[in-house]
Amino acid sequence: MADQAEKLRKLAGQTKKQCRVIAITSGKGGVGKTSVSVNLALALATQGARVVLVDTDLGLGNVEVLMGLHSFYNLAHVVEGSKTLEEVVIKAPLGLEVVPGSSGLSRIADLVDRDRERLIEALLSLCERSDFLLLDTMAGIGKNTVSFCTSADEVLLVTTPEPSAIVDAYAMLKTIHYQRNDVVIKLIVNMVLNSAQAQAVATKLTNVAQQYLGRGLIYLGHIVRDTHVNQSVMQSQPFFITYPNAPASRCVEAISQRLFYQSPAIEPKKKLGFMKRLAQNFGWAVGSDI
Ligand SMILES: Nc1ncnc2c1ncn2[C@@H]1O[C@H](COP(=O)(O)OP(=O)(O)OP(=O)(O)O)[C@@H](O)[C@H]1O
Ligand SMILES: [Mg+2]
Repeated sequence: MADQAEKLRKLAGQTKKQCRVIAITSGKGGVGKTSVSVNLALALATQGARVVLVDTDLGLGNVEVLMGLHSFYNLAHVVEGSKTLEEVVIKAPLGLEVVPGSSGLSRIADLVDRDRERLIEALLSLCERSDFLLLDTMAGIGKNTVSFCTSADEVLLVTTPEPSAIVDAYAMLKTIHYQRNDVVIKLIVNMVLNSAQAQAVATKLTNVAQQYLGRGLIYLGHIVRDTHVNQSVMQSQPFFITYPNAPASRCVEAISQRLFYQSPAIEPKKKLGFMKRLAQNFGWAVGSDI
């Protein structure tokens, strides 16, 4: 037991810092997290970044569906030790690599030591091969999603202009903030009519975050409501590839450029590695000094 804890502590301390770990999340479901994750990952890849997209959605594995990819295996097989990471990672267009979603990770907090070690090893290896590790999360304030968000270097909070989506986005923001107040949270407003509508949503959320939580929120940009998005879903192809000049693709490209050139904006001295925070957030017995 002590040996396992020591091993986990060592693994968790090995994060290569150049890799930016970014969780894409929301309060309300269906606001476009997976759509943003897939197309943003491709847009970052076109800028020359090495990108890995991990589907942490525990139920439906939507990343694969949106990209028209097929796989028999997922991260759970790596964690249980029946497959290697290389057998699970799917090579997608533009050099993007995808790790499919898995219902087998639903009890991630309850994994036994050997499985945790394999999960950390796998994530570490993904970090080492990438500049950006994007984590598409499930909606809502479930333990797994919140832990991935509070472990990441940056969180992209997606909302639409719908009042219920805005209220739920604030609830998510508050939950993340109370668990880790220095996490960098960036806002994307999806399915808007125009930039003015998105700006109004961003101003509202930024003001509320400042007033009630005393924290900043970085507005990263908007994506217009665009029929090309639904058309590409029907074709199981990302719109960024099928319709590169569509309004939604142009918006995603602008967001990816801002993200690419924006530093994670966190002081280095405060910066614990993703792996260390993940271990702590899941309450794994790897000690407080990792
Ligand atoms: N900019 C957009 N314009 C038009 N439709 C959009 C846009 N963004 C997303 N959609 C549509 O909204 C639906 C939900 O998108 P998506 O699956 O990405 O949301 P999600 O937040 O990942 O959902 P879940 O909470 O179930 O994981 C999809 O049918 C998608 O095509
Ligand atoms: Mg989704």
